[in-house]
Amino acid sequence: MDGHTDDTKPCIYIVNDDHVHREEVRLVLSSQFKVKGFDNNNACLDAMLVQKPDLVIVDERMVEDGKGCLFDKRTNPDLKDLPFIIAGKESANQYITGDGSEADTVLLRPFSKNKILIRVSDALSYGVEKKWDELPPQEKSALQSTLSDFQAISKAIEEKRPLDVAGTAESCQPLVESINNQNYQGILKNVQGHHNYTYVHSLRVATYLTMFGHAIGMRGDELLTLATGGMLHDVGKTVTPQDVLNKSSKLDDNEWLCMKQHVDNSSRVYDNTPEITHGIRIIGEQHHEKLDGSGYPKGLKGSELNELARMSVICDIFGALTDKRSYKEAFPPEMAFEILEEMNNQLDQKLVGIFREILEGHGTLKA
Ligand SMILES: [Fe+2]
Ligand SMILES: [Fe+2]
Repeated sequence: MDGHTDDTKPCIYIVNDDHVHREEVRLVLSSQFKVKGFDNNNACLDAMLVQKPDLVIVDERMVEDGKGCLFDKRTNPDLKDLPFIIAGKESANQYITGDGSEADTVLLRPFSKNKILIRVSDALSYGVEKKWDELPPQEKSALQSTLSDFQAISKAIEEKRPLDVAGTAESCQPLVESINNQNYQGILKNVQGHHNYTYVHSLRVATYLTMFGHAIGMRGDELLTLATGGMLHDVGKTVTPQDVLNKSSKLDDNEWLCMKQHVDNSSRVYDNTPEITHGIRIIGEQHHEKLDGSGYPKGLKGSELNELARMSVICDIFGALTDKRSYKEAFPPEMAFEILEEMNNQLDQKLVGIFREILEGHGTLKA
């Protein structure tokens, strides 16, 4: 079941006169995006003026000698904020000037499916990130610092380096302060639409967990552990293939196994990180465990799950249900609470009740 129609999918134009290379990229993107290919710059420019896409991917050979639609970005105000990816070899880096007039990011050969999808998702997120500048300083800083830390986390995992837990905790300080001051509506609202879904989900879980902790009397370092643990709870997903994470139809048995594997992936990352704390590990390793033993990966039960694990699973499910994904619309919070309440044997209903009261009391349901 595909929750998206073609009209709601982001639209991407690809410019490359090499049919084979153009098709290679188009095929990777066509399951999640509306994609049009062009073999020359003029055809793409004409199309851009009729229907502005959300992103353009242009091969570096198409912009040699100062020709091509990429350079129109400098002079045409309508195209100024349109994200461009330049695809090519090392030499394509010359088109990244950082002044906003040329390419925003580079997709270097050799391509892989994951690499293409990650670059596209980053570039599509620029517009969302720009809007954060208009937010009050604390909320803006909470979003910006957690995003740049999340990018550093992904890079560390890719390079098999330990996580910088102190760095993540520091990047979570503005989030914790926003929650202490009850200024977090802007955070929850403005992270929506960002295309790095694991970041969006991690930030939302971090926010809900910290709100939860604050409401039940936790303060200081305890809140920082909840925020940091929320940001790190799904780190194992950074190595889950993008097409499994963002699949717009039901996962098959193998894909589901691969998805569940993210918890063990996270454990390996924590094992490689001497700084990891017990609290962060509980959140990461037990946020899919259920009281009746039906959860994963260990099928822990009842008293084997402490309060932190019980809070994490509630925040994780609530966050997932109320988010819009490629395969489903966002559930209204009221419906998400009904689902949590129906999971009578699986979730700690006393905590579900408290969580509902917190969110209703703070007006989060109207956000
Ligand atoms: Fe998870
Ligand atoms: Fe999660």
